[in-house]
Amino acid sequence: MTPVILDCDPGHDDAIAIILAAADPAIDLLAITTVAGNQTLEKTTLNARRVCTVAGIEGVPIAAGCARPLIRPLRIADDVHGASGLDGPAFPEPTVEVVDEHAVELMHRILTGHGEPVTLVPTGPLTNVALLLTRYPEDAARIREIVLMGGSAERGNVTPYAEANIYVDPEAAAIVLGSGVPITFCGLNVTHQALVTEDVVARLLGLDTELGRICADLMTFFGSTYRRLWGFAAPPLHDPVAVARVIDPTLVACVDAHVAIELHGAHTLGATVVDLHSYLGHPPNAKVALTLDRDRFWDRVIDAIARVNFPAR
Ligand code: RIB
Ligand code: CA
Repeated sequence: MTPVILDCDPGHDDAIAIILAAADPAIDLLAITTVAGNQTLEKTTLNARRVCTVAGIEGVPIAAGCARPLIRPLRIADDVHGASGLDGPAFPEPTVEVVDEHAVELMHRILTGHGEPVTLVPTGPLTNVALLLTRYPEDAARIREIVLMGGSAERGNVTPYAEANIYVDPEAAAIVLGSGVPITFCGLNVTHQALVTEDVVARLLGLDTELGRICADLMTFFGSTYRRLWGFAAPPLHDPVAVARVIDPTLVACVDAHVAIELHGAHTLGATVVDLHSYLGHPPNAKVALTLDRDRFWDRVIDAIARVNFPAR
């Protein structure tokens, strides 16, 4: 089992990433940390508690992190994820609590005490991870790798060339990329291969469990905003792709490439400049995900959701 800390901004796709990381036998989920991104920190943290409550995820500490990016004002995605950040299904009052410790301090405590290097899986803006590496630079040696959802080897989803997680806090992304920790980018070019098509929703409903229905409702809402905003026939389930890469690297094929974070471009701020053909001659500094094994990916996601045996209504 790979020890993992999931740093997220739930968020519909983060919600499935939490369940996959908690339920898949290949991962030992040590903690869930939350960051402002899709919604405010208060809402992303409440949503993490909601997901853990309905998925029966207990014993995994949840710690809230940064309420805004390092420098820039927070830009939320309520147009995509709704006013709550997890619109769609009604959630019961959460019973899973938050620990009284900042996310960065919880990460540091786990990294110093775990006994083996830990994999960080950020699926939101990189503010918490950048702050960890700035406050405790020695922790870089205690991180096995960072496998993140963010960026794009092609076009963006917030501006023509910038993806949301990087765009919200590009300085944080540059700090993380410059830390020297092995890093893998699972960007839009690969997460757009994880479309939640009708057959996937049918498989969720076919589980005939409360959690299966909640996940189907989440995907139905997520699909409605992707249809309205981008004309997608089905929504891309971004964040679980990063978790899948940790579960089984053969699920997500990657190449080594040089990546730079654009911090100054008048039109390209927040872009991940992925030099797949080494035009600029810089040595590779990251792995970049290019291809998803869709069938095995969905099997792994559905199996994880099925493992939580909530009784049918
Ligand atoms: O651009 C997609 C990413 O931004 C996903 O992680 C989504 O949850 C949002 O955080
Ligand atoms: Ca996210």
